[in-house]
Amino acid sequence: MVILGHMGQRILVIEDDANIQGYAKTVLENAGFESFVCGTAAEARKIFHSVKFDLLIIDIGLPDGNGLELAKEFNLAAGGDPPFMFLTASSDLKTRLKCFNLGAQDYIPKPFAVEELLARVQAHLKLKQSRDTLARRNYELELRHRARQDLTDMIVHDLKAPLASIKGTLQLAAQYGLISDKDHHNLLTSAGTAAEFMLLMLNDLLDLGQAETACLKPDLAAVQLDELAGKVSELFRGWCRNRGVSLRVVIPPESSRLISDANLLFRILVNLASNALKFSPRGTEVTLEAARTPAGLRVAVCDRGPGIPKEQKPRLFDKYATGDRSQGTGVGLAFCRAAAQALRGDIHVEDRPGGGSVFALDLPQPTKAQNGVGPGPRAR
Ligand SMILES: Nc1ncnc2c1ncn2[C@@H]1O[C@H](COP(=O)(O)OP(=O)(O)O)[C@@H](O)[C@H]1O
Ligand SMILES: [Mg+2]
Repeated sequence: MVILGHMGQRILVIEDDANIQGYAKTVLENAGFESFVCGTAAEARKIFHSVKFDLLIIDIGLPDGNGLELAKEFNLAAGGDPPFMFLTASSDLKTRLKCFNLGAQDYIPKPFAVEELLARVQAHLKLKQSRDTLARRNYELELRHRARQDLTDMIVHDLKAPLASIKGTLQLAAQYGLISDKDHHNLLTSAGTAAEFMLLMLNDLLDLGQAETACLKPDLAAVQLDELAGKVSELFRGWCRNRGVSLRVVIPPESSRLISDANLLFRILVNLASNALKFSPRGTEVTLEAARTPAGLRVAVCDRGPGIPKEQKPRLFDKYATGDRSQGTGVGLAFCRAAAQALRGDIHVEDRPGGGSVFALDLPQPTKAQNGVGPGPRAR
């Protein structure tokens, strides 16, 4: 029988009998394994802590110790890695049971035949490989699951703003009873925008369930930023009226056209505007601005709120980073950063001169020639 090991698989043989030591080394190396041998517990300690092994073969009787004690000391049973087996001249049941009770995968009675040693080594290395593959797959699945959960959390979080908008609109309608036709029309439009936005996100949520990988995939097309900003402002109309704050859109025509993902951009703006308005004192104004930059376009949301404390800034865009738990969950800005990165852009916060914060989203833009044509905001 010819059994070939994988080069690079390392086996440590701890055995004091020089004949068995040499025999095992030759057999293992001929089969393609990298083998290390030592004859005492002291040598074993040194080598075990400096090399990563795939399998250990340990003699029970050692001149300066006991193989069973050594396995305990190396804590081999805890993770089952690396697998280990004992070599023993004793054939009594008690000793063999002791080996297994210690977590050993196997024992080899001395004297042993080449074929038997190799067959056992091979079987345990195969098992180890399967275990390692399973652990790796499990880890990858866990990462994928977490990424999917993150995106799900973000979508569920972003459903709050339009729902609050619809609720505010209904409250206004009920509160005023008789409202003008124009107001009536505006309120209905704003509730319609909110509902449309919620539907888009519910579709994203469904898509996410079916998607092979969980990541934000931008769907690039020509976007009319002024129209998009107008929808954001519509979304918060009722909310602003109830809270005595205002949202003004300042987007010059030369900054109103870009290539981007309308849905992702809309969600970023809704998050930034919702934060800015939430932290705005009564009577103040939030502005949603845009300007061309050498690399592309900067969209900024500026408020007159309390600003971001210096110590909060480094982790502000991390998930669950929130100044005050009662103020929110800290999912919105994490989404904004992930979406900005998906759009190959960047987002940061600055102190606003005169008080408040500026959340600036920098987006790269293709050259003018590429940017000239294309449809308006697309429906998804
Ligand atoms: N415009 C702002 N002014 C002051 N603080 C802000 C502003 N935007 C965000 N923050 C701070 O950042 C935290 C995280 O915001 P965010 O990620 O949007 O959380 P949430 O998803 O709960 O709204 C908030 O709890 C708040 O402390
Ligand atoms: Mg928020």
